[in-house]
Amino acid sequence: MNMLMLKKSLVKHWFVIFISPFILCVSCLILSKYFMKGVSPTFHAPKKLDPCLGQYIYVYDLPSRFNDDLLKGCNTLIKWENMCPYLSNLGLGPKIIEESNETVISKKNWYATHQFSLEVIFHNIMKDYKCLTNDSSLASAIYVPYYAGLDVGRYLWGGFNISIRDESPNQLVKWLAQQSQWKRMYGKDHFMVGGRVGYDFRRGSDKDEDWGTKLMFLPEASNITILLIESCADKEFPLYENEFAIPYPTYFHPSNDDEIFEWQRKMRNRKREYLFSFVGAPRPNLTSSIRNELIDHCQSSKSCKLVGNHFGDPVHVLDVFQKSVFCLQPPGDSFTRRSTFDSILAGCIPVFFHPHSAYKQYMWHFPKNNSSYSVFIPETDVKRKRVMINETLFNVQESEVLEMRDEVIRLIPKIVYRYPSSRLETLDDAFDVAVKGVLQRIEEMKR
Ligand SMILES: *[C@@H]1O[C@H](CO)[C@@H](O)[C@H](O)[C@H]1NC(C)=O
Ligand SMILES: *[C@@H]1O[C@H](CO)[C@@H](O)[C@H](O)[C@H]1NC(C)=O
Ligand SMILES: *[C@@H]1O[C@H](CO)[C@@H](O)[C@H](O)[C@H]1NC(C)=O
Ligand SMILES: *[C@@H]1O[C@H](CO)[C@@H](O)[C@H](O)[C@H]1NC(C)=O
Ligand SMILES: *[C@@H]1O[C@H](CO)[C@@H](O)[C@H](O)[C@H]1NC(C)=O
Ligand SMILES: *[C@@H]1O[C@H](CO)[C@@H](O)[C@H](O)[C@H]1NC(C)=O
Ligand SMILES: *[C@@H]1O[C@H](CO)[C@@H](O)[C@H](O)[C@H]1NC(C)=O
Ligand SMILES: *[C@@H]1O[C@H](CO)[C@@H](O)[C@H](O)[C@H]1NC(C)=O
Repeated sequence: MNMLMLKKSLVKHWFVIFISPFILCVSCLILSKYFMKGVSPTFHAPKKLDPCLGQYIYVYDLPSRFNDDLLKGCNTLIKWENMCPYLSNLGLGPKIIEESNETVISKKNWYATHQFSLEVIFHNIMKDYKCLTNDSSLASAIYVPYYAGLDVGRYLWGGFNISIRDESPNQLVKWLAQQSQWKRMYGKDHFMVGGRVGYDFRRGSDKDEDWGTKLMFLPEASNITILLIESCADKEFPLYENEFAIPYPTYFHPSNDDEIFEWQRKMRNRKREYLFSFVGAPRPNLTSSIRNELIDHCQSSKSCKLVGNHFGDPVHVLDVFQKSVFCLQPPGDSFTRRSTFDSILAGCIPVFFHPHSAYKQYMWHFPKNNSSYSVFIPETDVKRKRVMINETLFNVQESEVLEMRDEVIRLIPKIVYRYPSSRLETLDDAFDVAVKGVLQRIEEMKR
């Protein structure tokens, strides 16, 4: 058949080729509509996709020794501190009431939240997560609400031997491995949250004088995704790839989008009279610490505001941060600090001295571009007095400062944990970002 003939036959049979399938389709539709009537009321609209598809989470009902009993024994959780008030209000702590009328904080939803309360807050927000399911076969992820940090906190000081420290972690993994949900993916679709630093759960040896528990070295735990306020995971530790850092809890627990928008607006308009500030105590016994240098420098620099005590007073700390352009965030006992999140909340640009303080930590929550929201001054430069911090910060261009501050203020929703039982409409808070990260990681492992 040459082309001409093909064309001719196409013209001749156009009706058969184009129109008849159309008629067939239409009649099928009419027929099926007729037959389906009363059978499926949703037939007319295209079938709606389940908005929770791929986001269902199943929460284990753990034996109470792994969570509720710890709350009941709240006065024994930390040796020198009574945690009971801090664990009130669903783990948010006592409500903060501002005495002066400076309006440092907003009227609603500020709490004196403890830096190690995250596992309780996370659990309570999860109780109202929009895609919970009791059918674990439907779940994309399985949450293990174990309060690992509160648990180990009881035994970190006071010379407790390793069999005492490891008892709960051992019991927990034993319990998990017996669940039918475990067998599906050997725990690879499980996750938990630890409100302390990873180092507290990574004791490498069986010596009593070594720190922490070996929770995260137990074979079962290495299959579970673990979210912590500070991760040990790094390129140098590829074995720790199941660890992810998520923000420390701050004092603000908003219950709707508007409270956050209003707070952001307020932080944008704050007058900032100090070029930089430092809130924190020296570490006299830690020779590697740069805190002494920072404190000396701050004291001798007119443009720096030092808060050397009363740093436990949230209103005072936030007041100083709101009046500062830059906030120094050196390592303390570990690389990260809760103060980093307090400064972001106040619209104060963080200054880091170690890449592990932020850039290698909060991958899901912080921008990829570290200089878009922070300033970096290497620790060694401070130690060797090769840098004048006040001059470095003074020399940052005004336009760069404005851009960085905008970015910091844009981060606010992602670093707050909302009030449990509330839902945000258009914003993702720290909880939402973390859950998305977990779901995505598990999804990738399934493929
Ligand atoms: C609060 O503000 C009022 C007037 O605006 C002022 O008279 C009063 O001294 C302030 N109180 C405090 C505790 O700052
Ligand atoms: C799961 O079961 C518990 C206890 O029966 C019930 O209270 C809860 O509402 C159920 N949750 C969902 C998401 O169906
Ligand atoms: C650990 O300490 C507990 C309580 O002091 C004690 O009963 C137990 O025998 C100790 N275990 C070991 C292995 O030392
Ligand atoms: C961890 O997962 C692997 C599969 O990736 C499985 O072979 C192993 O048995 C699991 N470990 C435990 C303790 O379940
Ligand atoms: C530093 O070490 C000394 C001597 O060991 C001790 O008395 C002091 O309490 C320590 N200071 C701090 C802040 O830990
Ligand atoms: C900041 O990010 C850049 C690009 O990812 C990276 O090369 C650099 O090492 C980071 N800076 C620090 C101090 O980690
Ligand atoms: C990172 O942010 C800085 C400051 O906003 C900007 O100058 C730079 O171009 C950014 N780098 C990348 C790779 O986007
Ligand atoms: C920085 O601080 C030193 C004193 O530590 C002072 O001499 C210098 O003038 C300050 N520079 C700026 C830009 O404020």
